[in-house]
Amino acid sequence: MNVVIVGTGYVGLVTGACIATGDHEVTCLDIDEEKIAALSNGVIPIHEPGLDALVEQGVAGGNLAFSTDADAVVPGADVVFIAVGTPAGLNGQPQLDAVFASVDSVATRLGAGATIVIKSTVPIGTNSAVSDRVREVRGDDEISVVSNPEFLRQGAAVSDFLNPDRIVIGAWDEESTQRIIDLYASVIDDSAPRLATDPPSAELIKYAANSFLAVKLSFVNEIADLCEQTGASIAEVTAGMGTDPRIGNAFLNPGPGYGGSCFPKDTSALLRASQGAGAPSRIVAAAIDANRTRRRHMADRVMVHFDAGTTPVVAVLGVTFKANTDDVRESPAIDIVHGLMRAGATVKVYDPEGMEGARRAIGEDPLCGSVEEAVEGADALVIATEWDEFAKLDLRAVSERMKGSMLFDFRNIFDPSDAAEAGMTYYSIGRPIRN
Ligand SMILES: NC(=O)c1ccc[n+]([C@@H]2O[C@H](COP(=O)([O-])OP(=O)(O)OC[C@H]3O[C@@H](n4cnc5c(N)ncnc54)[C@H](O)[C@@H]3O)[C@@H](O)[C@H]2O)c1
Repeated sequence: MNVVIVGTGYVGLVTGACIATGDHEVTCLDIDEEKIAALSNGVIPIHEPGLDALVEQGVAGGNLAFSTDADAVVPGADVVFIAVGTPAGLNGQPQLDAVFASVDSVATRLGAGATIVIKSTVPIGTNSAVSDRVREVRGDDEISVVSNPEFLRQGAAVSDFLNPDRIVIGAWDEESTQRIIDLYASVIDDSAPRLATDPPSAELIKYAANSFLAVKLSFVNEIADLCEQTGASIAEVTAGMGTDPRIGNAFLNPGPGYGGSCFPKDTSALLRASQGAGAPSRIVAAAIDANRTRRRHMADRVMVHFDAGTTPVVAVLGVTFKANTDDVRESPAIDIVHGLMRAGATVKVYDPEGMEGARRAIGEDPLCGSVEEAVEGADALVIATEWDEFAKLDLRAVSERMKGSMLFDFRNIFDPSDAAEAGMTYYSIGRPIRN
Protein backbone atom coordinates (compact mmCIF):
# COMPACT_ATOMS: atom_id res chain seq x y z
CA MET A 1 0.00 0.00 0.00
CA ASN A 2 0.96 3.61 -0.37
CA VAL A 3 1.07 4.89 3.23
CA VAL A 4 1.47 8.45 4.53
CA ILE A 5 2.19 9.18 8.19
CA VAL A 6 1.22 12.69 9.30
CA GLY A 7 3.38 13.76 12.26
CA THR A 8 6.96 12.51 12.37
CA GLY A 9 7.57 12.51 16.12
CA TYR A 10 8.27 9.65 18.55
CA VAL A 11 5.23 7.69 17.35
CA GLY A 12 5.04 8.80 13.71
CA LEU A 13 8.68 8.16 12.87
CA VAL A 14 8.68 4.74 14.52
CA THR A 15 5.38 3.87 12.81
CA GLY A 16 6.72 4.96 9.43
CA ALA A 17 10.04 3.16 9.74
CA CYS A 18 8.36 -0.03 10.98
CA ILE A 19 5.60 -0.08 8.34
CA ALA A 20 8.31 0.41 5.69
CA THR A 21 9.72 -3.00 6.71
CA GLY A 22 6.59 -4.51 5.11
CA ASP A 23 5.39 -4.46 1.50
CA HIS A 24 4.54 -0.77 1.53
CA GLU A 25 5.72 2.61 0.25
CA VAL A 26 5.81 5.01 3.22
CA THR A 27 6.18 8.78 3.38
CA CYS A 28 6.47 10.57 6.72
CA LEU A 29 4.99 14.06 6.51
CA ASP A 30 5.53 16.90 8.99
CA ILE A 31 5.12 20.67 9.17
CA ASP A 32 8.51 20.95 10.89
CA GLU A 33 10.80 21.73 7.96
CA GLU A 34 13.97 21.46 10.02
CA LYS A 35 13.03 17.97 11.19
CA ILE A 36 12.21 16.76 7.68
CA ALA A 37 15.41 18.30 6.27
CA ALA A 38 17.43 16.50 8.97
CA LEU A 39 15.69 13.18 8.29
CA SER A 40 16.20 13.61 4.55
CA ASN A 41 19.92 13.99 5.32
CA GLY A 42 19.99 10.82 7.41
CA VAL A 43 19.90 12.58 10.80
CA ILE A 44 17.46 11.01 13.28
CA PRO A 45 16.04 13.76 15.52
CA ILE A 46 15.23 11.51 18.51
CA HIS A 47 17.04 8.88 20.54
CA GLU A 48 15.26 5.56 20.17
CA PRO A 49 17.25 2.29 20.16
CA GLY A 50 17.25 0.55 16.76
CA LEU A 51 15.48 3.39 14.95
CA ASP A 52 18.53 4.71 13.04
CA ALA A 53 19.17 1.34 11.42
CA LEU A 54 15.53 0.88 10.48
CA VAL A 55 15.25 4.35 8.92
CA GLU A 56 18.49 3.81 7.02
CA GLN A 57 17.23 0.45 5.76
CA GLY A 58 13.88 1.92 4.63
CA VAL A 59 15.48 4.87 2.84
CA ALA A 60 18.12 2.67 1.18
CA GLY A 61 15.40 0.24 0.07
CA GLY A 62 13.51 3.11 -1.53
CA ASN A 63 10.29 2.61 0.44
CA LEU A 64 10.70 5.25 3.16
CA ALA A 65 10.78 8.97 2.40
CA PHE A 66 10.20 12.27 4.22
CA SER A 67 8.28 15.32 3.08
CA THR A 68 6.61 18.56 4.09
CA ASP A 69 4.59 18.68 0.86
CA ALA A 70 1.06 17.35 1.42
CA ASP A 71 0.10 18.14 -2.20
CA ALA A 72 2.82 15.85 -3.46
CA VAL A 73 2.29 12.86 -1.19
CA VAL A 74 -1.31 12.69 0.07
CA PRO A 75 -3.28 12.28 -3.20
CA GLY A 76 -1.66 8.91 -3.98
CA ALA A 77 -2.12 7.45 -0.48
CA ASP A 78 -4.22 4.37 0.28
CA VAL A 79 -3.90 4.85 4.02
CA VAL A 80 -2.98 7.98 6.02
CA PHE A 81 -1.98 7.63 9.67
CA ILE A 82 -2.47 10.68 11.87
CA ALA A 83 0.25 10.60 14.55
CA VAL A 84 0.47 14.25 15.63
CA GLY A 85 0.70 15.36 19.25
CA THR A 86 -2.33 15.70 21.52
CA PRO A 87 -0.84 17.56 24.52
CA ALA A 88 -2.92 18.38 27.59
CA GLY A 89 -4.68 21.72 27.52
CA LEU A 90 -5.10 23.93 30.57
CA ASN A 91 -8.15 22.05 31.85
CA GLY A 92 -6.57 18.62 31.34
CA GLN A 93 -8.46 17.95 28.12
CA PRO A 94 -6.24 16.99 25.17
CA GLN A 95 -5.69 19.67 22.55
CA LEU A 96 -6.91 18.33 19.24
CA ASP A 97 -5.93 21.28 17.01
CA ALA A 98 -3.10 19.37 15.31
CA VAL A 99 -5.34 16.34 14.74
CA PHE A 100 -8.05 18.38 13.03
CA ALA A 101 -5.53 20.52 11.10
CA SER A 102 -4.03 17.26 9.76
CA VAL A 103 -7.44 15.82 8.97
CA ASP A 104 -8.46 18.99 7.10
CA SER A 105 -5.19 18.90 5.19
CA VAL A 106 -5.52 15.28 4.04
CA ALA A 107 -9.30 15.01 3.63
CA THR A 108 -9.52 17.30 0.60
CA ARG A 109 -6.43 15.80 -1.05
CA LEU A 110 -7.18 12.08 -0.67
CA GLY A 111 -8.57 10.01 -3.49
CA ALA A 112 -11.89 8.16 -3.05
CA GLY A 113 -11.59 4.88 -1.17
CA ALA A 114 -8.66 5.89 1.03
CA THR A 115 -8.59 5.35 4.82
CA ILE A 116 -7.60 7.79 7.56
CA VAL A 117 -6.21 6.02 10.65
CA ILE A 118 -6.11 7.93 13.93
CA LYS A 119 -3.02 6.73 15.81
CA SER A 120 -2.72 9.76 18.09
CA THR A 121 -4.25 9.21 21.53
CA VAL A 122 -7.62 10.97 21.35
CA PRO A 123 -10.70 11.27 23.59
CA ILE A 124 -13.76 9.09 23.14
CA GLY A 125 -15.82 10.44 20.26
CA THR A 126 -12.91 11.96 18.33
CA ASN A 127 -12.96 9.36 15.54
CA SER A 128 -16.64 10.04 15.13
CA ALA A 129 -16.00 13.81 14.99
CA VAL A 130 -13.16 13.26 12.49
CA SER A 131 -15.46 11.17 10.34
CA ASP A 132 -18.08 13.94 10.34
CA ARG A 133 -15.43 16.53 9.50
CA VAL A 134 -14.11 14.49 6.56
CA ARG A 135 -17.63 14.09 5.19
CA GLU A 136 -18.25 17.82 5.66
CA VAL A 137 -15.09 19.09 3.93
CA ARG A 138 -15.31 16.61 1.06
CA GLY A 139 -19.08 16.53 0.63
CA ASP A 140 -18.95 12.76 0.11
CA ASP A 141 -18.73 9.46 2.00
CA GLU A 142 -15.70 8.07 0.20
CA ILE A 143 -13.13 8.06 3.03
CA SER A 144 -13.25 5.69 5.99
CA VAL A 145 -11.89 6.61 9.41
CA VAL A 146 -10.32 3.98 11.70
CA SER A 147 -8.99 4.19 15.26
CA ASN A 148 -5.69 2.36 15.81
CA PRO A 149 -4.18 3.52 19.12
CA GLU A 150 -0.48 2.93 19.73
CA PHE A 151 0.94 1.19 22.82
CA LEU A 152 4.68 1.44 22.20
CA ARG A 153 6.98 2.41 25.06
CA GLN A 154 9.64 5.03 24.39
CA GLY A 155 13.06 3.44 24.80
CA ALA A 156 11.75 0.16 23.36
CA ALA A 157 9.51 1.64 20.67
CA VAL A 158 10.80 -0.24 17.63
CA SER A 159 10.59 -3.67 19.21
CA ASP A 160 7.23 -2.82 20.81
CA PHE A 161 5.84 -1.72 17.45
CA LEU A 162 7.08 -4.81 15.63
CA ASN A 163 6.17 -7.24 18.45
CA PRO A 164 3.06 -5.75 20.03
CA ASP A 165 0.91 -7.45 22.68
CA ARG A 166 -2.11 -6.62 20.53
CA ILE A 167 -3.23 -4.46 17.64
CA VAL A 168 -6.44 -2.59 18.43
CA ILE A 169 -8.51 -1.63 15.39
CA GLY A 170 -11.67 0.41 15.96
CA ALA A 171 -13.82 0.73 12.86
CA TRP A 172 -17.47 1.03 11.90
CA ASP A 173 -17.29 -1.48 9.05
CA GLU A 174 -15.54 -4.78 8.40
CA GLU A 175 -13.94 -3.63 5.16
CA SER A 176 -11.98 -0.88 6.94
CA THR A 177 -10.92 -3.28 9.71
CA GLN A 178 -9.72 -5.76 7.10
CA ARG A 179 -7.75 -3.09 5.31
CA ILE A 180 -5.72 -2.33 8.45
CA ILE A 181 -5.30 -6.06 9.18
CA ASP A 182 -3.95 -6.45 5.61
CA LEU A 183 -1.62 -3.49 6.06
CA TYR A 184 -0.05 -5.00 9.17
CA ALA A 185 0.15 -8.53 7.67
CA SER A 186 3.58 -7.97 6.12
CA VAL A 187 4.82 -5.91 9.10
CA ILE A 188 3.76 -7.74 12.29
CA ASP A 189 3.47 -11.52 12.57
CA ASP A 190 0.21 -13.28 13.38
CA SER A 191 1.11 -13.97 17.02
CA ALA A 192 -0.12 -10.49 18.04
CA PRO A 193 -3.90 -10.64 18.45
CA ARG A 194 -5.83 -8.27 16.22
CA LEU A 195 -8.63 -6.86 18.37
CA ALA A 196 -11.38 -5.55 16.12
CA THR A 197 -13.77 -3.24 17.91
CA ASP A 198 -15.76 -0.03 17.50
CA PRO A 199 -13.95 3.37 17.54
CA PRO A 200 -15.16 4.58 20.98
CA SER A 201 -14.02 1.32 22.60
CA ALA A 202 -10.64 1.56 20.84
CA GLU A 203 -10.25 5.14 22.09
CA LEU A 204 -11.10 4.14 25.66
CA ILE A 205 -8.84 1.04 25.60
CA LYS A 206 -5.84 3.34 25.18
CA TYR A 207 -6.81 5.69 28.03
CA ALA A 208 -7.88 2.86 30.33
CA ALA A 209 -4.63 0.95 29.73
CA ASN A 210 -2.38 3.94 30.44
CA SER A 211 -4.46 5.02 33.43
CA PHE A 212 -4.36 1.52 34.89
CA LEU A 213 -0.56 1.49 34.65
CA ALA A 214 -0.38 4.94 36.26
CA VAL A 215 -2.62 3.75 39.09
CA LYS A 216 -0.39 0.68 39.57
CA LEU A 217 2.72 2.88 39.81
CA SER A 218 1.10 5.30 42.24
CA PHE A 219 -0.05 2.38 44.34
CA VAL A 220 3.39 0.81 44.53
CA ASN A 221 4.92 4.20 45.35
CA GLU A 222 2.58 4.48 48.33
CA ILE A 223 3.48 0.96 49.45
CA ALA A 224 7.15 1.98 49.20
CA ASP A 225 6.44 4.96 51.47
CA LEU A 226 4.78 2.59 53.92
CA CYS A 227 7.87 0.35 53.79
CA GLU A 228 10.06 3.32 54.72
CA GLN A 229 7.93 4.03 57.78
CA THR A 230 7.68 0.43 58.97
CA GLY A 231 11.03 -1.20 58.21
CA ALA A 232 9.68 -3.44 55.45
CA SER A 233 11.55 -3.57 52.13
CA ILE A 234 9.72 -2.79 48.89
CA ALA A 235 11.90 -5.23 46.94
CA GLU A 236 10.70 -8.08 49.15
CA VAL A 237 7.11 -6.88 49.11
CA THR A 238 6.86 -6.51 45.32
CA ALA A 239 8.63 -9.85 44.79
CA GLY A 240 5.95 -11.42 46.95
CA MET A 241 3.14 -9.54 45.21
CA GLY A 242 4.36 -10.04 41.66
CA THR A 243 4.40 -13.82 41.77
CA ASP A 244 0.60 -13.68 41.87
CA PRO A 245 -0.31 -13.81 38.15
CA ARG A 246 -3.38 -11.66 38.85
CA ILE A 247 -0.99 -8.88 39.88
CA GLY A 248 2.08 -9.60 37.70
CA ASN A 249 5.67 -8.42 38.05
CA ALA A 250 5.58 -5.49 35.64
CA PHE A 251 5.23 -1.92 36.83
CA LEU A 252 6.01 -2.70 40.44
CA ASN A 253 9.20 -0.61 40.63
CA PRO A 254 8.81 2.40 42.91
CA GLY A 255 10.34 5.71 41.88
CA PRO A 256 10.02 9.48 41.94
CA GLY A 257 6.57 9.42 40.29
CA TYR A 258 5.49 8.76 36.72
CA GLY A 259 6.12 11.26 33.94
CA GLY A 260 6.61 11.43 30.19
CA SER A 261 4.38 12.67 27.43
CA CYS A 262 1.67 10.04 27.97
CA PHE A 263 0.72 9.02 31.55
CA PRO A 264 0.19 12.52 32.98
CA LYS A 265 -1.87 13.74 30.02
CA ASP A 266 -3.76 10.48 29.49
CA THR A 267 -4.79 10.17 33.14
CA SER A 268 -5.97 13.81 33.11
CA ALA A 269 -7.89 13.18 29.89
CA LEU A 270 -9.58 10.07 31.29
CA LEU A 271 -10.50 11.93 34.46
CA ARG A 272 -12.01 14.82 32.48
CA ALA A 273 -13.88 12.42 30.21
CA SER A 274 -15.21 10.42 33.16
CA GLN A 275 -16.36 13.57 34.94
CA GLY A 276 -17.97 14.90 31.78
CA ALA A 277 -19.82 11.63 31.30
CA GLY A 278 -21.14 11.62 34.88
CA ALA A 279 -19.09 8.54 35.80
CA PRO A 280 -16.12 10.17 37.60
CA SER A 281 -13.08 7.98 38.15
CA ARG A 282 -12.11 8.61 41.78
CA ILE A 283 -9.26 6.12 41.52
CA VAL A 284 -7.61 7.90 38.59
CA ALA A 285 -8.15 11.25 40.38
CA ALA A 286 -6.33 9.86 43.43
CA ALA A 287 -3.44 8.53 41.32
CA ILE A 288 -3.01 11.93 39.63
CA ASP A 289 -3.04 13.69 42.98
CA ALA A 290 -0.64 11.20 44.62
CA ASN A 291 1.76 11.47 41.69
CA ARG A 292 1.78 15.28 41.61
CA THR A 293 2.40 15.46 45.34
CA ARG A 294 5.13 12.86 45.14
CA ARG A 295 7.00 14.61 42.35
CA ARG A 296 6.74 17.96 44.14
CA HIS A 297 8.23 16.54 47.34
CA MET A 298 11.11 14.41 46.03
CA ALA A 299 13.61 17.29 46.38
CA ASP A 300 12.63 17.64 50.08
CA ARG A 301 13.99 14.14 50.71
CA VAL A 302 17.41 15.58 49.91
CA MET A 303 17.14 19.08 51.36
CA VAL A 304 15.88 17.88 54.75
CA HIS A 305 19.46 16.71 55.44
CA PHE A 306 20.88 20.22 55.13
CA ASP A 307 20.43 23.14 57.50
CA ALA A 308 18.05 25.85 56.31
CA GLY A 309 19.91 28.70 54.64
CA THR A 310 22.83 26.51 53.51
CA THR A 311 23.53 26.04 49.80
CA PRO A 312 24.59 22.45 49.23
CA VAL A 313 25.93 21.27 45.89
CA VAL A 314 23.75 18.46 44.58
CA ALA A 315 24.65 16.34 41.56
CA VAL A 316 21.63 15.01 39.68
CA LEU A 317 22.20 12.14 37.26
CA GLY A 318 19.41 11.83 34.70
CA VAL A 319 16.92 14.31 33.28
CA THR A 320 14.88 12.16 30.89
CA PHE A 321 11.58 10.77 32.16
CA LYS A 322 12.95 7.24 31.82
CA ALA A 323 16.07 5.56 30.47
CA ASN A 324 16.83 4.99 26.76
CA THR A 325 15.06 8.10 25.51
CA ASP A 326 16.03 11.75 25.07
CA ASP A 327 12.52 12.87 26.05
CA VAL A 328 12.25 15.19 29.06
CA ARG A 329 8.54 15.95 28.68
CA GLU A 330 6.90 15.87 32.16
CA SER A 331 10.06 14.31 33.56
CA PRO A 332 10.10 13.89 37.36
CA ALA A 333 13.86 14.52 37.16
CA ILE A 334 13.15 18.08 35.99
CA ASP A 335 10.81 18.58 38.96
CA ILE A 336 13.57 17.36 41.26
CA VAL A 337 16.09 19.81 39.75
CA HIS A 338 13.64 22.71 40.04
CA GLY A 339 12.76 21.70 43.62
CA LEU A 340 16.43 21.59 44.64
CA MET A 341 17.09 24.97 43.01
CA ARG A 342 14.08 26.54 44.71
CA ALA A 343 15.38 25.26 48.06
CA GLY A 344 18.72 26.98 47.45
CA ALA A 345 20.91 24.10 46.24
CA THR A 346 23.51 24.48 43.51
CA VAL A 347 22.59 21.75 41.07
CA LYS A 348 24.91 19.97 38.64
CA VAL A 349 23.18 17.85 36.04
CA TYR A 350 24.23 15.18 33.56
CA ASP A 351 22.26 12.86 31.28
CA PRO A 352 23.60 10.65 28.45
CA GLU A 353 20.90 11.65 25.92
CA GLY A 354 18.71 14.32 27.48
CA MET A 355 21.03 17.35 27.48
CA GLU A 356 19.23 19.14 24.65
CA GLY A 357 15.88 18.81 26.42
CA ALA A 358 17.52 19.73 29.74
CA ARG A 359 18.91 22.93 28.21
CA ARG A 360 15.36 23.97 27.27
CA ALA A 361 13.84 22.96 30.62
CA ILE A 362 16.46 24.13 33.15
CA GLY A 363 18.89 26.31 31.20
CA GLU A 364 22.59 25.96 30.47
CA ASP A 365 24.09 26.72 33.91
CA PRO A 366 23.49 23.41 35.74
CA LEU A 367 24.62 21.23 32.83
CA CYS A 368 27.79 19.15 33.04
CA GLY A 369 29.56 17.21 30.30
CA SER A 370 30.04 13.98 32.24
CA VAL A 371 29.18 12.07 35.42
CA GLU A 372 32.62 12.93 36.78
CA GLU A 373 32.11 16.66 36.27
CA ALA A 374 28.65 16.51 37.88
CA VAL A 375 29.72 14.68 41.04
CA GLU A 376 33.01 16.57 41.55
CA GLY A 377 32.83 18.30 44.96
CA ALA A 378 29.10 17.51 45.40
CA ASP A 379 27.59 17.27 48.88
CA ALA A 380 24.93 14.83 47.69
CA LEU A 381 24.16 12.74 44.64
CA VAL A 382 20.67 12.05 43.26
CA ILE A 383 19.91 9.30 40.74
CA ALA A 384 16.84 10.59 38.90
CA THR A 385 16.78 8.35 35.79
CA GLU A 386 17.58 4.64 35.64
CA TRP A 387 20.22 4.73 32.87
CA ASP A 388 22.38 1.62 32.61
CA GLU A 389 25.43 3.89 32.49
CA PHE A 390 24.62 5.03 36.03
CA ALA A 391 23.89 1.53 37.36
CA LYS A 392 27.39 0.49 36.22
CA LEU A 393 29.16 3.36 38.00
CA ASP A 394 32.09 2.60 40.26
CA LEU A 395 30.56 4.02 43.45
CA ARG A 396 33.86 4.12 45.27
CA ALA A 397 35.36 6.34 42.53
CA VAL A 398 32.22 8.51 42.61
CA SER A 399 32.38 8.80 46.38
CA GLU A 400 36.04 9.86 46.22
CA ARG A 401 35.19 12.73 43.86
CA MET A 402 32.37 13.99 46.08
CA LYS A 403 32.72 16.25 49.12
CA GLY A 404 29.80 14.64 50.94
CA SER A 405 28.68 11.04 50.98
CA MET A 406 24.89 11.08 50.62
CA LEU A 407 23.47 9.08 47.73
CA PHE A 408 19.74 9.38 46.96
CA ASP A 409 18.89 6.58 44.58
CA PHE A 410 15.34 7.46 43.48
CA ARG A 411 15.33 4.60 40.95
CA ASN A 412 16.70 1.84 43.22
CA ILE A 413 19.42 0.98 40.69
CA PHE A 414 22.10 0.13 43.28
CA ASP A 415 22.46 -2.64 45.79
CA PRO A 416 22.30 -1.00 49.25
CA SER A 417 25.32 -2.94 50.52
CA ASP A 418 27.44 -1.93 47.48
CA ALA A 419 26.65 1.71 48.20
CA ALA A 420 27.48 1.29 51.88
CA GLU A 421 30.76 -0.49 51.05
CA ALA A 422 31.69 2.44 48.80
CA GLY A 423 31.41 4.71 51.84
CA MET A 424 28.10 6.30 50.89
CA THR A 425 25.09 6.92 53.08
CA TYR A 426 22.45 5.35 50.90
CA TYR A 427 18.82 6.48 50.69
CA SER A 428 16.62 4.65 48.21
CA ILE A 429 12.88 4.25 47.73
CA GLY A 430 11.09 1.89 50.09
CA ARG A 431 14.24 0.22 51.41
CA PRO A 432 16.06 0.75 54.71
CA ILE A 433 18.74 3.46 54.85
CA ARG A 434 22.27 1.99 54.66
CA ASN A 435 25.58 3.47 55.73
N1 LIG B 1 5.31 9.13 22.83
C1 LIG B 1 4.79 7.96 23.12
O1 LIG B 1 5.42 7.09 23.74
C2 LIG B 1 3.39 7.62 22.69
C3 LIG B 1 2.94 6.30 22.79
C4 LIG B 1 1.65 6.00 22.37
C5 LIG B 1 0.84 7.02 21.87
N2 LIG B 1 1.31 8.29 21.80
C6 LIG B 1 0.44 9.33 21.23
O2 LIG B 1 0.86 9.57 19.88
C7 LIG B 1 0.68 10.95 19.55
C8 LIG B 1 2.00 11.56 19.09
O3 LIG B 1 2.89 11.56 20.17
P1 LIG B 1 4.45 11.86 19.95
O4 LIG B 1 5.11 11.65 21.27
O5 LIG B 1 4.93 11.11 18.78
O6 LIG B 1 4.39 13.41 19.60
P2 LIG B 1 5.60 14.34 19.09
O7 LIG B 1 5.38 15.65 19.70
O8 LIG B 1 6.91 13.65 19.28
O9 LIG B 1 5.38 14.44 17.51
C9 LIG B 1 4.31 15.09 16.90
C10 LIG B 1 4.75 15.53 15.51
O10 LIG B 1 3.62 16.02 14.82
C11 LIG B 1 4.04 17.14 14.03
N3 LIG B 1 2.86 17.93 13.65
C12 LIG B 1 2.09 18.75 14.42
N4 LIG B 1 1.09 19.26 13.70
C13 LIG B 1 1.20 18.76 12.44
C14 LIG B 1 0.44 18.91 11.25
N5 LIG B 1 -0.63 19.69 11.20
N6 LIG B 1 0.85 18.25 10.14
C15 LIG B 1 1.95 17.46 10.18
N7 LIG B 1 2.69 17.26 11.29
C16 LIG B 1 2.33 17.92 12.41
C17 LIG B 1 5.02 17.85 14.93
O11 LIG B 1 5.84 18.74 14.19
C18 LIG B 1 5.79 16.66 15.53
O12 LIG B 1 6.89 16.31 14.71
C19 LIG B 1 0.09 11.60 20.80
O13 LIG B 1 -1.31 11.60 20.70
C20 LIG B 1 0.52 10.67 21.92
O14 LIG B 1 -0.34 10.70 23.03
C21 LIG B 1 2.56 8.62 22.18
